[in-house]
Amino acid sequence: MNFQFTEDQLLIQQTAKEFAEKEILPSAIERDKKAEFPAEIIKKLAELGFMGMMVSPEYDGAGLDTISYVLAMIEISKVDASVGVIMSVNNSLVTYGLENWGSEFIKQKYLKPLARGEKLGAFALSEPEAGSDATHQMTKAEKDGKYWVLNGIKNWITNGQSADYYVVIAQTDSAKRHKGITAFLVEKDWQGFEHGVKEDKLGIRSSDTCSLTFTNVRVPEENVLWEVGKGFNYAMNTLNGGRYGIASQAVGIAEGAFEAALKYSKQRKAFGTEISNHQAIQFKLAEMATKVEAAKLLTLQAAGLKDAGKPYIKEASMAKLFSSKVAVECALEAIQIHGGYGYVREYVVERFLRDSKITEIYEGTSEIQKIIIARELLKEV
Ligand code: CAA
Repeated sequence: MNFQFTEDQLLIQQTAKEFAEKEILPSAIERDKKAEFPAEIIKKLAELGFMGMMVSPEYDGAGLDTISYVLAMIEISKVDASVGVIMSVNNSLVTYGLENWGSEFIKQKYLKPLARGEKLGAFALSEPEAGSDATHQMTKAEKDGKYWVLNGIKNWITNGQSADYYVVIAQTDSAKRHKGITAFLVEKDWQGFEHGVKEDKLGIRSSDTCSLTFTNVRVPEENVLWEVGKGFNYAMNTLNGGRYGIASQAVGIAEGAFEAALKYSKQRKAFGTEISNHQAIQFKLAEMATKVEAAKLLTLQAAGLKDAGKPYIKEASMAKLFSSKVAVECALEAIQIHGGYGYVREYVVERFLRDSKITEIYEGTSEIQKIIIARELLKEV
């Protein structure tokens, strides 16, 4: 695979880097402490076209490729993984699905404002009893004339409080199991829709995560996504894209942790010299750098395959599995290199550790990624 970036891709990467350092970094520690949603930052990201990066210009998106998206996600997440996940959900889990499987009505009415970043999206698949076992949907929708009546509870929804539009997965025919699941587009102001309180999370605290409750929410039939009974396929196909998004977020965290550790090792002195002169620290830095590079290459590979129109399910899962592990490992090592300073909030590395852990959990746990990878491998023989 050729990873010679084009001038356009490098420009996107540079734009994301400058934006992250100028607009995101100054408030990152404070927003994390207060668990404050970065509303102003998201507005500015939208002006850059980063909330609908891969959506075609026909639907008001930036029309960029997946490699550009990955490069931008890495730079943003390197500075603040909370902003990274908000951006990733809107791009990968919401606009991508609507553009590929939404009707023309859905694209005109919902995709366009989401791609412009004027509206924010959320993706509601998980439930109290349906996390990894995603076919076990208890949220139900029943047909009533030209409407579907939605009842149920969703859990752990990123952008849950702040979104305007929600992709909601529900059971429409229990007898058909996963082939009786349907995806709907739901607006936040519809009667019977409520969101829960913001979860008090370990990491990515500036993003908002909450439960959603649907009580007899009437969804017009034109808001069915793809078609009735295709909701599970909709969710799975969308999550494939989500997985290289989260892999990019993890690469950003890992690289951010590595760069902070590298810088600190050149400043901190012990035993009469900078700690970077000690082999114990050099070995850690060497391992971190190698892992970051490998994680980045795996993630770019998944993105490159998608851009080339080739299958990328296995590669997206491999990228997520590996990058999320590397993010946790690099964050831990960065703390070790910082010693006591790594353990306090004034230094950025403790946040990297708290933010990294979720990348091994959401959009398919590491265990689920291994199932997907193994299934794909076995199909090949
Ligand atoms: N891509 C495309 N299609 C897929 C797929 C994939 N990766 N995985 C499964 N499918 C399709 C299958 O082809 C099959 O389709 P057909 O019936 O049309 O042939 C259908 O889905 C059912 O597949 P399985 O029989 O393999 O289903 P399963 O019950 O064994 O589950 C699973 C498969 C991979 C474990 C799946 O349930 C899964 O991915 N679970 C994890 C769910 C997940 O990632 N949740 C994250 C929540 S979203 C989130 O975190 C968002 C956020 O806010 C950040």
